[in-house]
Amino acid sequence: MKERYEVKSVEETWKVAREFADELRPGDVVCLGGDLGAGKTTFTQGVASHWGAKKPVTSPTFCLVVEHPTDKHLLVHMDLYRLHDEDDVLTIGWEDYLARGAVLFVEWWDRAGDLIPPNAWKVSFSLGDDEESRVIEFSRI
Ligand SMILES: Nc1ncnc2c1ncn2[C@@H]1O[C@H](COP(=O)(O)OP(=O)(O)OP(=O)(O)O)[C@@H](O)[C@H]1O
Ligand SMILES: [Mg+2]
Repeated sequence: MKERYEVKSVEETWKVAREFADELRPGDVVCLGGDLGAGKTTFTQGVASHWGAKKPVTSPTFCLVVEHPTDKHLLVHMDLYRLHDEDDVLTIGWEDYLARGAVLFVEWWDRAGDLIPPNAWKVSFSLGDDEESRVIEFSRI
């Protein structure tokens, strides 16, 4: 992966998502950051679709955790906004998912504190100059 991509459409976001998806291994944690509407869910959809998920990825805001079984990995999409700390995060099965080799895509990951493993991926989204342009940046926590 490059550290930074400038994309000009949803299709280009999906292309970056596919490239990233191929790097992921069981037990990986992906910390998603960026403003409302910047593209976190759209990117996650691209990964799930590349892995052969059967149902569409929608925002997990109201359910905290959504499981997406795919042909490749169990993708677990979490939105921790409504949680407060690590103890809360443990109650939604964080450790069980990792033990099962799931790949976690996490929004509002700061709630998870020290549960975020060293070397977790951080993917940050920001709006670009036009309506469909976005900047996607990859780093390790
Ligand atoms: N290049 C692009 N990449 C991703 N999304 C784009 C792009 N261009 C336009 N969009 C649109 O921007 C919106 C991104 O919404 P999305 O739900 O993915 O954002 P989000 O970061 O998950 O927001 P939220 O924090 O509200 O959950 C979608 O409506 C999508 O169609
Ligand atoms: Mg979202």
